[in-house]
Amino acid sequence: MTAAVQSGQSMKLPGGLQPLVMPHLAYTPEVRRETAKLYEKVSRVIPPVEWPSFAPYVKAINELKRERNAVVLAHNYMTPEIFHCVADVVGDSLQLAREASKTDADIIVQGGVHFMAETSKLLNPDKLVLIPDMRAGCSLAASITGADVRSLRAAYPGAPVVTYVNTSAEVKAESDICCTSSNAVKVVESLGATRVILIPDEFLAKWVQTQTDVEIVTWKGHCEVHERFTPEELRAYREADPGVRIIAHPECPPEVIAEADFAGSTSGMIKWVKEHEPRKVLLVTECSMSDNVAVEAPNTEFVRPCNLCPHMKRITLPKILDSLLYLKEEVTVPAAIAERAREAVERMVNLNH
Ligand code: 13P
Ligand code: SF4
Repeated sequence: MTAAVQSGQSMKLPGGLQPLVMPHLAYTPEVRRETAKLYEKVSRVIPPVEWPSFAPYVKAINELKRERNAVVLAHNYMTPEIFHCVADVVGDSLQLAREASKTDADIIVQGGVHFMAETSKLLNPDKLVLIPDMRAGCSLAASITGADVRSLRAAYPGAPVVTYVNTSAEVKAESDICCTSSNAVKVVESLGATRVILIPDEFLAKWVQTQTDVEIVTWKGHCEVHERFTPEELRAYREADPGVRIIAHPECPPEVIAEADFAGSTSGMIKWVKEHEPRKVLLVTECSMSDNVAVEAPNTEFVRPCNLCPHMKRITLPKILDSLLYLKEEVTVPAAIAERAREAVERMVNLNH
């Protein structure tokens, strides 16, 4: 299934590159054989009946990545056939941002949402950054604009602005430094200020406030996935099995985090499961993550209160394949904001070295 340059193609692609021919996507004995090892890895979470619909895409994408010198970066919320079978780099927002700054590939395909692709572009201005579906947004990123940040600065003169990476480049450009849920406390405390504006996630800011003496001013943004969890729901799981361990993402409401045994970023949650090897665990976060961790934690049973992120779920194998074939959708950041936004991201990345 080698892809060749299509003859007579008039389609204009970024970087003067050519579209490639759509590979044959049948589940042949050859495809089954070549993807058998990958299927073995994900067989705990992908039923055998579903694999024939994924395998031809997995094989085609892995071949096209070599042909294009491309990498796929996949967030922990990608589905397992993406996360375990076609991704080159996986991780939380901070890990993806760090790896994006190191890659020597020509093309980055972002398995994640738009703000993540923008971050990759900021750190790789000369590379082609693609997102398989431009509509993959985020309720936190949509909750605030650059003008809102300027108003906050005017209302709290002198307070530095720390912006969660789940924001547009326009908002990052108005900020002093970025943070993710895995380094928010460290970033806030690095500034040496008595008061810090930490935006736009109200719940993340409240969680950070429980761990620092710095006064935190925040915004009313919420993650539409994590805000739906309730303490009653978590208590019901504990009543049903008092041995269940509950770990939550800091984008959850404070009363939900109060019911949890641990709170941390998606990579922090994965690390916790690997270190503690609980008999049964409930990950209070987007539900694909349980599948991805289950692949590597065979002795743990995962309870799945399934809250899906509709934006993350827009990224599928067929759309990743289209990205590589037709080099779409290209993510760009206007020059007028790119430099200031990049500085805010780089300050965060450098802080952790
Ligand atoms: P982290 O992976 O950085 O914890 O972020 C979670 C998230 O919601 C990303 O959209
Ligand atoms: Fe945004 Fe929440 Fe989806 Fe993450 S899970 S992309 S924070 S809406």
